[in-house]
Amino acid sequence: MQRPSRRTIVTLGAIGIMTAGLEAVLGVTRRTRAANHDLFQNEALSLPSPQEESDTSVEKAIANRRSRREYGTQPLTRQELSQLLWSAQGVTDRSTGYRAAPSAGALYPLELYVVVGTPGVENLEQGVYQYQPEEHELRQVKSGNVQSRLRQAALDQEDVEDAAIDIVVSATDERTTQKYGKRGKLRYVPMEAGHVGENIYLQAESLTLSTVTIGAFDNERVRQIVDAPANQRPLYVIPVGTRP
Ligand SMILES: Cc1cc2nc3c(=O)[nH]c(=O)nc-3n(C[C@H](O)[C@H](O)[C@H](O)COP(=O)(O)O)c2cc1C
Repeated sequence: MQRPSRRTIVTLGAIGIMTAGLEAVLGVTRRTRAANHDLFQNEALSLPSPQEESDTSVEKAIANRRSRREYGTQPLTRQELSQLLWSAQGVTDRSTGYRAAPSAGALYPLELYVVVGTPGVENLEQGVYQYQPEEHELRQVKSGNVQSRLRQAALDQEDVEDAAIDIVVSATDERTTQKYGKRGKLRYVPMEAGHVGENIYLQAESLTLSTVTIGAFDNERVRQIVDAPANQRPLYVIPVGTRP
């Protein structure tokens, strides 16, 4: 076999060094990403216990409920966030695991993501969080303010960016269709999102907050913004904030 020339050896050596360098950089990037992902996956943020008493009767909350599209500059408190999420999907019977909103077959296909932007929530980093009903906790999905992207995905509706937070109600249809088939997807799952939306409206009214349920948005873009898996479909974007 012919011996490689000196030039070939130098060229191959340079390629080898560049490849090793690239691998090292990519390796570090991959490890950093994995570490961040693990950090976010594992980071559980506790919420204050929800209150089951208030000065507002359910009748008053129903009578006064409106879609309110004006927001103040004050952040929400953690107690208010706790209350909103509990009203939407909180576990209200520890012995059965049943939740605040009804669910066909108690299969609970809905997930709640909280987009925390500006003015956001007291002592909570901007980002996307997923509500964990059993633990009444938040798990951070990603950091950074994505409200502007979410607004664009919601046909540029300004409420999405003006409110302190947005609650994205997203469905894993299979949980319900495995028992109820097509009827589950066409009827039961969207009905359940309606129950969640109304509970948030009434809870917001009782807390003197502003909210509106938003159904006009690009499903796929919203799903990607909150990092929901591909088998989920967002059904509602619900901005919530203080009143001006
Ligand atoms: C399924 C559904 C989708 C909605 N989508 C939007 C929306 O995309 N943008 C918006 O500003 N309001 C939206 N709304 C709120 C309605 O406009 C509002 O409920 C209606 O005007 C009646 O007013 P009220 O809620 O104050 O009684 C939606 C309401 C529902 C129930």
